[in-house]
Amino acid sequence: MAHQHLTEMLDLDVEVLHDHHREVIALAGTLVPAEPHIIDLGAGTGAGTLALARQLSDAQLTAVDIDDEMLAHLRHRATELGVGQRIRTVRADLDDTWPTDLGPADLIWASAAMHHFADPARALGQARAALRPGGAIMITELDSFPKFLSDPVGSAIEDRCHDEMARHRAAAGMHMNEDWGAHLTAAGFVAEAERRFDIDLRAPLPQRALRYAQVCLSRMGERLGDRLSRVDLATLGDIAANLSEQDLVIRATRLVWIGRVPRSVPSP
Ligand SMILES: C[S@@+](CC[C@H](N)C(=O)[O-])C[C@H]1O[C@@H](n2cnc3c(N)ncnc32)[C@H](O)[C@@H]1O
Repeated sequence: MAHQHLTEMLDLDVEVLHDHHREVIALAGTLVPAEPHIIDLGAGTGAGTLALARQLSDAQLTAVDIDDEMLAHLRHRATELGVGQRIRTVRADLDDTWPTDLGPADLIWASAAMHHFADPARALGQARAALRPGGAIMITELDSFPKFLSDPVGSAIEDRCHDEMARHRAAAGMHMNEDWGAHLTAAGFVAEAERRFDIDLRAPLPQRALRYAQVCLSRMGERLGDRLSRVDLATLGDIAANLSEQDLVIRATRLVWIGRVPRSVPSP
């Protein structure tokens, strides 16, 4: 069930935050030459891979993930959407030495992936090696799940859950709230841009927004099962089950960093 919620949550994120994803992918399109090869690191269910394939119709994509189930879902969706021919999936543990045939690439796309890696500096070094000279990397990170509740009881419990999630991620050694611009520079990239997207959606909301909120709140409950009081857990379940579209807001922050491999190594 936990995996099912994660898969559904990743798919709904791209569907419900469609305009945001379109804008970020348009930005990616400005970074690449014609017929680019793009590697999606930690591709998950393919939210990024599939949107990139649809919006950049001459791109070839390599989607990499450690999770076979996610990659199977991605391939299935790619076939349904008619973009399967341009997408290769590779199962790999990106904490390990990367497969030698991933690159060369014009763009590496890493959305909500970098914070998972045990050693981000090592991952960025390998990303740089997989890129062509002049190639770009685009890192997207989020501070947490979106927030959906605006009434006093709901938003107080949601804030407590978010604080607890932050502690949970820190305890699990995840690299949240890092300065990826500094990481890029340290790995030999030219840090080219940094963008912050503040998403604030209110009624009328996109189709499926209600389901997205329910799945995110349920997933948060699953993750925090043993860290929330029984009362909070029960209230969260109740709120998720009785949400209505009129009460819903969607507030989220996404941060994007762009780094570039220098075209030529400067002479000493
Ligand atoms: C939060 S999901 C993001 C998925 C997708 N990029 C998106 O934006 O919807 C993180 C993904 O990274 C993958 N992942 C985590 N650690 C990994 C590793 N060491 N090697 C490869 N993939 C990894 C997970 O399996 C998961 O699919």
